[in-house]
Amino acid sequence: MKEKELIKEIREKFCHVEECPYSGKRIFFENAGGSLTLKSVVDRSSLMASIPDNQGRDNLASSSIMDIISKSKLQTLNFFNTKSGSILIGESGTELLFRLIRTAILSSGKGSIVGSTLEHPASRSATAKWSKIASKELIMVPHCNETGTVDIDKYLDQINSNVVVATIVHTSPVTGIGVDIKNLTNGIKDKNPDCLVIVDGIQHAAHGDINISDYKIDGYVISPYKVFSRHGYGLAWISDRLRNLPHENLIKGPEENWDLGTRDVGSYATFSDVIDYFEWLGSKFSKIETTRHKKFLNAARFIHKQENHLVDIMLFGKDNIKGLSSYPNIKIIGGVENKLREGLVSFSLHDLPSEIIVKELNNKGVRTHIRKSDHYSGNILDPLGLKNCVRVSMCHYNTEEEVLQFLTGINEIIHH
Ligand SMILES: Cc1ncc(COP(=O)(O)O)c(C=O)c1O
Repeated sequence: MKEKELIKEIREKFCHVEECPYSGKRIFFENAGGSLTLKSVVDRSSLMASIPDNQGRDNLASSSIMDIISKSKLQTLNFFNTKSGSILIGESGTELLFRLIRTAILSSGKGSIVGSTLEHPASRSATAKWSKIASKELIMVPHCNETGTVDIDKYLDQINSNVVVATIVHTSPVTGIGVDIKNLTNGIKDKNPDCLVIVDGIQHAAHGDINISDYKIDGYVISPYKVFSRHGYGLAWISDRLRNLPHENLIKGPEENWDLGTRDVGSYATFSDVIDYFEWLGSKFSKIETTRHKKFLNAARFIHKQENHLVDIMLFGKDNIKGLSSYPNIKIIGGVENKLREGLVSFSLHDLPSEIIVKELNNKGVRTHIRKSDHYSGNILDPLGLKNCVRVSMCHYNTEEEVLQFLTGINEIIHH
């Protein structure tokens, strides 16, 4: 009961939880495409957009917006659980992955690049383009079809003293399965301490639990609209080492600066709102006054537990409502039991096109998404011999009732 009240309180903090301004009442299971947005983010965006003043002026408005940026950067370092490195804002997650990977490849010495086929085209395209231009060999480690993730030993087999850059995706947006990034990145640096490691955390961020001090990495990129903020910017953490490598900046400007031009203060301010939300959520499980870090850990623990609960119902059903795993003609990507699943279930039926399922679900007020064997998802679907799949992506603010409604809808569609 207490948990139900908390979910209600959580839902009150977000916009358009139950109603889409275009299509009306609906259940939102398209969180991997973009999460719901916090009301505080919308209010802050409007406030910040109304301020004409620029940074670096001798007036109170200017110093106030600079304070907002400094505070947000410190808060973000804290949220990412690291004391070192820098935070920067870019155009999008994709743009930042390109920028970080380009810098790492062009500014490192002779050698090869290692990535995996699990990665989103954002990082795969960046490594493909810049390794070619830099005449560096690119080695792509095949991911595991059965588990929908990267086999750490297989990846580490490719790491040696010749590898100058390694790229990793924290969670796949197609399989929904995470990568054990702590073991993988520690393994990479054990074999080659000089290798620069760039991580795509875009799909993982909404689940919390980003602990950069536990990973041996040089870059971590997220897209804030996938973690309760809005569209219009990407955010990255870079190590001091990566920050100090030659990169684009203004002649005679501060060399450590990575911001290209005047940044939107609202980006920083709204990310502070996201962090405040995680802190608020974590405080619900902290009886006494505790550290921010502990609150972030508590928030992540709750998110993980709630998402696993929803995934369990989706796969195994409840009472007399059948779960997806009960249908013999449904194939679940990444396998039914998978400890690394993060709130997302992708599936396909060999006798019913995904397009029809997504459309019918939409007609029943359940928003999901089709993933096709195209340049975004072909890397996952082609080796499985699938042309497409239905992706159902949940978040901690979704409810058991929503999952049961989805399952009832699926049952009707399949038996129609
Ligand atoms: C893992 C991952 N990487 C990169 C991207 C691209 O992000 P953006 O479109 O925000 O740049 C996505 C988007 O779905 C993603 O899930």
